[in-house]
Amino acid sequence: MPILATVTPQQVLAALGTVIDPDLHKDLVTLGMIKNVQIDGPRVSFTVELTTPACPLKAEIERMCRAAVAAVPGVEDIQIEMTANVRANTGRGIPQQQALPGVKNVVAVASGKGGVGKSTVSANIACALAQMGAKVGLLDADIYGPSIPIIMGVEDAQPTVDEKKEKLMPVERYGVKIISMGFLQPSGSAVIWRGPMVAKAVQQFLRDVEWGEIDYLVVDLPPGTGDAQLTLAQAIPLSGAVVVMTPQDLAAAVAVKAVAMFQRLDVPILGIVENMSYFLCPTCNSRHHIFSHGGGQQAAEALNVPFFGAIPLAADIGAEADEGTPSVVINPDGPYAEAFREVAERVAQAISIGARKFVPLAMAK
Ligand SMILES: Nc1ncnc2c1ncn2[C@@H]1O[C@H](COP(=O)(O)OP(=O)(O)O)[C@@H](O)[C@H]1O
Ligand SMILES: [Mg+2]
Repeated sequence: MPILATVTPQQVLAALGTVIDPDLHKDLVTLGMIKNVQIDGPRVSFTVELTTPACPLKAEIERMCRAAVAAVPGVEDIQIEMTANVRANTGRGIPQQQALPGVKNVVAVASGKGGVGKSTVSANIACALAQMGAKVGLLDADIYGPSIPIIMGVEDAQPTVDEKKEKLMPVERYGVKIISMGFLQPSGSAVIWRGPMVAKAVQQFLRDVEWGEIDYLVVDLPPGTGDAQLTLAQAIPLSGAVVVMTPQDLAAAVAVKAVAMFQRLDVPILGIVENMSYFLCPTCNSRHHIFSHGGGQQAAEALNVPFFGAIPLAADIGAEADEGTPSVVINPDGPYAEAFREVAERVAQAISIGARKFVPLAMAK
């Protein structure tokens, strides 16, 4: 009779100790990502706790774990549970007292100018992260054109007040907690905000919102790089910023300015997204580059920040946003949702890595 090898937790942990997280460059055991190792004869089960449910390497890490443990003598069956626990990254230069209670990461979505699809991208990223299992908030801080209520289909909603806590409760839609500066403005009235006043108001306002537990708070910032934008970006404790641009050359120059603004504020640039990048032909499904090609990629390379991908120019993306149903919500299996999801994963990944890339100021001239 053959002597069956007895599997021990030490052997399993030693095997998993050879699996290196491709992003964090350390093994999973050292990173504290292996939980709940259980052994029942030849059957092994354990949990892998990733740093984000939106991890683009999830399948790859699971495969590596399975292969490592399968090599342990005596193992015949492997059950792996993939979970996630998003870690807080309040970024550089954020005094502890400024951090928002319960909010682990605050991501700004910014652009050098309006009309590049910043709000559309913000809403789709927020919804995609929520779909992947993250706890998500969406703050519409675009005081000049708060369009998140329309895109998220909550135009007629009003946040309620928790009298006991004296807190503002966000409106919830598609699993995302939403607060918009638009909720505070009577519709049709253009509010003329001035920089310092805005910053104070937003800071106070943010503190008055009961976010609860949030992994990612996505902030749709006003476009541009003027004083008002600068003060506003400063008033929010940002973990990092994503810059949205269109493929035209001029837009790249404008995006560089936006990158420089965050650099001045010591806010890490997570990456650049190119929106309305190419035309995806609905009939032949091929890509047509209407504008000059590769501007986002080039800008990212020149600035030494990651390029997060390109979103096609598609009438449906605009129409779906205008109808209050972001593409990832209304058509989660479609090609547009896929493009947005990829960007959302890259954002989550960059936050996990704590990518803190700074651009030399000379670039911004
Ligand atoms: N990828 C896209 N393809 C087609 N239309 C888009 C796309 N992204 C945004 N739009 C449309 O372009 C307009 C501007 O987008 P919006 O998100 O409001 O930009 P911003 O917030 O930068 O001003 C909106 O009408 C929106 O529906
Ligand atoms: Mg907008």
